[in-house]
Amino acid sequence: MKLDDNDQAMLDGRDGPAVARAMDLLVRYGAALGAESLVDVHNVCGTFTATTPFMRDFAMAHAATGSGAGSAEGSTERSPEHGLDAVFAEFNLDSDTVVALPTRTRVPTAHLQLGFDPAHPVETGATPQVVEFYRRSEAMAQRLGVRMVATCAPYQVGIEPAFGDHLAWMESSAVVYANSVLGARTNTEGRESTNAAALTGRIPNWGLHLDAPRRATLGVQVRVPLETVEDWGLFGYWYGDWVQERVGVIDGVVAHTTTRPDLPRLKHFGAAASSSGGVELYHLVGITPEAHTLAQATGGRALDEVRTYDATARAATHERINATGSERRVDYVMLGCPHYSLAQLREAAALLDGRRVHADSALWIFTARQIRDAARAEGVLATIEAAGAKLLTDTCSAMSRAVPPGTRVVALDSVKQAHYLPAILGVQAWFGTTSQCIDAACTGRWA
Ligand code: F3S
Repeated sequence: MKLDDNDQAMLDGRDGPAVARAMDLLVRYGAALGAESLVDVHNVCGTFTATTPFMRDFAMAHAATGSGAGSAEGSTERSPEHGLDAVFAEFNLDSDTVVALPTRTRVPTAHLQLGFDPAHPVETGATPQVVEFYRRSEAMAQRLGVRMVATCAPYQVGIEPAFGDHLAWMESSAVVYANSVLGARTNTEGRESTNAAALTGRIPNWGLHLDAPRRATLGVQVRVPLETVEDWGLFGYWYGDWVQERVGVIDGVVAHTTTRPDLPRLKHFGAAASSSGGVELYHLVGITPEAHTLAQATGGRALDEVRTYDATARAATHERINATGSERRVDYVMLGCPHYSLAQLREAAALLDGRRVHADSALWIFTARQIRDAARAEGVLATIEAAGAKLLTDTCSAMSRAVPPGTRVVALDSVKQAHYLPAILGVQAWFGTTSQCIDAACTGRWA
């Protein structure tokens, strides 16, 4: 792989040992991918903190023996981080050698969702010891300049890359949104590569960073209206199941639909498509920025195959996503996958106003910290809590594997969550509209 002078200087240690390890990781990663060079990154969204009991034990072992903190390469005195440097080297940089913590990220960087909500540790299965360890690692990330948005939908809290920006993002639902809706360019990265990109400002110039892999090879003709968030979620599940990791172009939405797809609709479409398939980029003719026309989306080449999405396909997808549901009693309703926007919280609050969650059921809604704070300021949070529901942040039931004790039957307005929760927790899942889900929470039954 060809490195420029700046890449080589970072690799040779000019900017310290952590940056050198990061560049070494990118060189190995790029070579494995077959990338010819690295490209400048405009924005990074990844995972930087330590949130698991295993990481805590790892840090304590290194801090106790001094094999990590005190002897870190590049460190002149015993580190105050008590093993966090060892965790950072091992888990964030894939480095066998402990290195001193870096001083600053090189590009705007944000932290995505966590494995639990530090404000609701009991509900999301975190011990006080893990929460205390996590808070130290969050402080460390913030010293590096990492913005703790703690959400799977960073584009809802002000992180909105411009068209054509090169990114290094994790989280499948965010990656597909960035590529398809914003027209930015990212592959689905991991913890190590996002950390390396944050420290160097570089990522392998491969896959969806290039023009040719962004062109559609498959086509879909839509023959049914796509009006509601539910419609878009079901369509995304059908679409991803077919195209898997290929890029498709969808035509016919404008002709058959009166409601132009907005953020929640496109968010749910992409999240569903990246659950049933590995979709990282799609094109909607007349809607998304690289598909003003069909020819633009394909680059003028003939499509390999075109399929039709119609009322029959929609009905079959609805049946499939509800396949695990059999009991009508609902123990738990989860909303906010991907994390709810402020507009979705307002809608939920309006549906809950003057009602109570049933004594035998529970309603948890997930969002970003920043959106929760806005909901609190508006009085939306008070309405939600007055109904007996809970608003959580930073995680979700699938990420934290946490549901109310004894849960056997759940109701969801997210196809993505309906795909994962039965597989992860062995529960039955009903999928429907937000209104149906809130009715289920307040009556304890799926109608
Ligand atoms: Fe977000 Fe969890 Fe869904 S992290 S996209 S709410 S599975």
